[in-house]
Amino acid sequence: MTDRQNEFQKMVVYQIYPRSFKDSNSDGIGDINGITEKLDYIKSLGANAIWLSPCYKSPNEDNGYDISDYRDIMDEFGTLDDWKRMTAEMHKRGMKLIMDLVANHTSSEHKWFKEARKSKDNPYRDYYYWADEPLNDWQACFGGSAWQYDEATNQYYLHSYAVGQPDLNWENPKVRQEMIDVVDYWVKLGVDGFRCDVLDQISKDFVNNKNGNGPRLHEYIKMLFGREEVSHIFTVGECWGAGEDNIKQLIGADRKELSTVFQFDHIVLGRGDGGRFDPAPFVLDEMRDKLVKWQLFMQKNDLPATLFLENHDQPRCVSRFGNDAEKRYESATMLATMVYLQKGIPFIYQGQEIGTANPYSENIEDYDDIETVNFYKRNKGKLTDKELFAKMNFGTRDAARRPMSWDESENSGFGGKPWLPIYNRYKEINVKADMTSEKSVFRYYQQLFRLRSENEAFISGAYDNVTGNRKGIYIYKRYTNDERFIIVCNFENSNELKLDIDCEAVLTNCGRKTISGMYEPYECAVFRVNR
Ligand code: NOJ
Repeated sequence: MTDRQNEFQKMVVYQIYPRSFKDSNSDGIGDINGITEKLDYIKSLGANAIWLSPCYKSPNEDNGYDISDYRDIMDEFGTLDDWKRMTAEMHKRGMKLIMDLVANHTSSEHKWFKEARKSKDNPYRDYYYWADEPLNDWQACFGGSAWQYDEATNQYYLHSYAVGQPDLNWENPKVRQEMIDVVDYWVKLGVDGFRCDVLDQISKDFVNNKNGNGPRLHEYIKMLFGREEVSHIFTVGECWGAGEDNIKQLIGADRKELSTVFQFDHIVLGRGDGGRFDPAPFVLDEMRDKLVKWQLFMQKNDLPATLFLENHDQPRCVSRFGNDAEKRYESATMLATMVYLQKGIPFIYQGQEIGTANPYSENIEDYDDIETVNFYKRNKGKLTDKELFAKMNFGTRDAARRPMSWDESENSGFGGKPWLPIYNRYKEINVKADMTSEKSVFRYYQQLFRLRSENEAFISGAYDNVTGNRKGIYIYKRYTNDERFIIVCNFENSNELKLDIDCEAVLTNCGRKTISGMYEPYECAVFRVNR
């Protein structure tokens, strides 16, 4: 890895979904000034970077991932001046700002598309893909054909996501230049990096019938980020299709493409063939095996990994992979220990630090996510309401998007009457209650990130999986020549461990002292090995 990539491993990134984080003006919608108010809170957790989901102008068909102006802030979130003040306040605190770059598609309300759809000879026509008939059977991620008929010119356009998210045609050099200009615009304003939305879809492979990972992908990425002017920024690609070979190309030290990528193998576990809304049997051993596989691969190839359990598209990890009832604290902290002391860059999603659990609702009015609402429309009447809502509650992206629970007051301390219902369990699970609880997930995270930042073993140190054949447990080592740590994460059942190692516990979620002995469900501990 490059020196910069090495340096980026010192980051701890906190992701904010601005609509749901903090509403400073009581209009029910989170905003930029709300974020500025909470910077000290985020810093106190131990995060030193913020990934901001899109805050640009948007008609919100997909909550900001449909951008109508790349250079300005959504009115509901504030102004560019508010954004500048927030950025300055972050930098004052030594925090980096990572913006979301949505390069695969715009909103249909973007001026490029409004022009493009007017006539076949409009100068913006080739900014998008048009055809007399659908060119293939590609499905849009949110349901239906990816080709939408447009009456004005009697042709179809391509949209990999919502109908209002037409795909940009990157074959057109003007589109590439536009996106380079967008990157430069924000970098000049002081942005420190980008999280790049569905980046591997910007190059299509029409010949092999694949909507992504096309033949010119690497050329395009290099064009965006391989330039000297932006060589200092951090870039992480959302690349669902990235396998081993492709990852080496996307982030290899000599490639001048990206700093790192999100790899999702461990996150999609527990889902059947039907995808997001299809629960399937799952045990944590499967997750451990995926984590081990990728840790070893990234280490062998000297590549920086990303470490994450949640984001704005995923249900809450404590509900998905842990036990959000009687073992909520234990499983939330164990999952954190399992993932974040591995080698790579931690990403944590708002609310995860207090062990937020999935909400539950059987009222369609409580849902906003276009993917969930479309799923409901497609299946209403085909399944009983009970079955349908069970699936929706399992997979909905709204589980991560309800307003952050700050305290037990009205609207959970978020602000005005919110755009999406607050979490059902907000009285029990909120920042104020968690911080003062004996079992505080927040304080555990604080300690975990402090341990990480204070010990080089967790940054540049080596990783080793030492679980052996054991079931229901994950044991790994992180070490340099000078220091050595063993991390033990027990899963859902009690487990007895016998290990003859001279070590002392430095972080535990159940107060254990010795490495050997009986581990309770979801108990975890980090041990410093004595020389
Ligand atoms: C991935 C984003 O994370 C998701 O929220 C969005 O809906 C799609 N890309 C389309 O932009």
